[in-house]
Amino acid sequence: MTKKKKLKIKKKNFTIFIIFLILICFCFTGLTSLIIRNFSNEKTKSDEKTFTNNKDLSEKDKKLKKLGNINKKISYFKMSNLDRYITYKEKNNSLSNTQIVKDVNMDLDKDPYTDMKEAKNLNKINILVNKHNYLKENYVPNNLEQIDTKYALSNMSLVNTAKYAFENMSKEANKENLKIIAMSTYRSYEYQVNLYNNYAKSDGKTAADTYSGRPGNSEHQTGLAVDVYNQDETYTNFEKTEEYIWMQDNAYKYGFILRFPKGKEKETGYEFESWHYRYVGKNIAKIIKENNISLEEYIATH
Ligand code: DAL
Ligand code: ZN
Repeated sequence: MTKKKKLKIKKKNFTIFIIFLILICFCFTGLTSLIIRNFSNEKTKSDEKTFTNNKDLSEKDKKLKKLGNINKKISYFKMSNLDRYITYKEKNNSLSNTQIVKDVNMDLDKDPYTDMKEAKNLNKINILVNKHNYLKENYVPNNLEQIDTKYALSNMSLVNTAKYAFENMSKEANKENLKIIAMSTYRSYEYQVNLYNNYAKSDGKTAADTYSGRPGNSEHQTGLAVDVYNQDETYTNFEKTEEYIWMQDNAYKYGFILRFPKGKEKETGYEFESWHYRYVGKNIAKIIKENNISLEEYIATH
């Protein structure tokens, strides 16, 4: 091969090498810019997301701040009630933040008998039935049993645990010559229809609502409530009897609480009833008694 020919081949190879190099350069820059573009797109998307989260978070934070970050101080704060706490606080600015949470947990931001919920904990001792929590028409508690007529008028039934506790309590009171007699216990929905309608007819609905549950809203339908008297005084005078004093000191030891105490009308929705007791079991009764709270307040804070 001549020198000239060799030189020509070398030149050709060199040109191919250069073209190859240029092609590689092009590919590399293309790929790099594609990666950069993609990455910055992803970044923009994630930035947008973070921004939205921050916006949500700050709205929520602002509301919590308005409530003095009470959520960090009390266990019964419910995040699902946040907007209701804020609205209630705007209308009741003088109340403490703890009170705001308690009141809303008790549904006191709603008018009685509006936007009611079906009662939870059916057939349990911590069931709450009131003007915000109702029982269905066909609800009949399990294990109803008649109370021994030594301690009750005839045909008085309670859920068996409450019945035994009541008989035991009445028996103990009897040892001190006191008579605690059950005169109204489990009442069916239909029974309450008649009772409430009669009260409403004679006293008007507004007055009747201060002392009688509407059908589905009376806790007598739970089979855990009992009205008592001492056989000498009418039940509305129970407050004036020795038996009432005994009940104040001892009922909780048997798992009963005075359900509608004086001073708790706002929470319970009813006037004071010295004769109406509710079985909640010994543990809850002790807490309610020691803290001087209503069942509504107990449920709202536990
Ligand atoms: N007397 C009570 C409030 C009732 O009717 O359930
Ligand atoms: Zn009653």
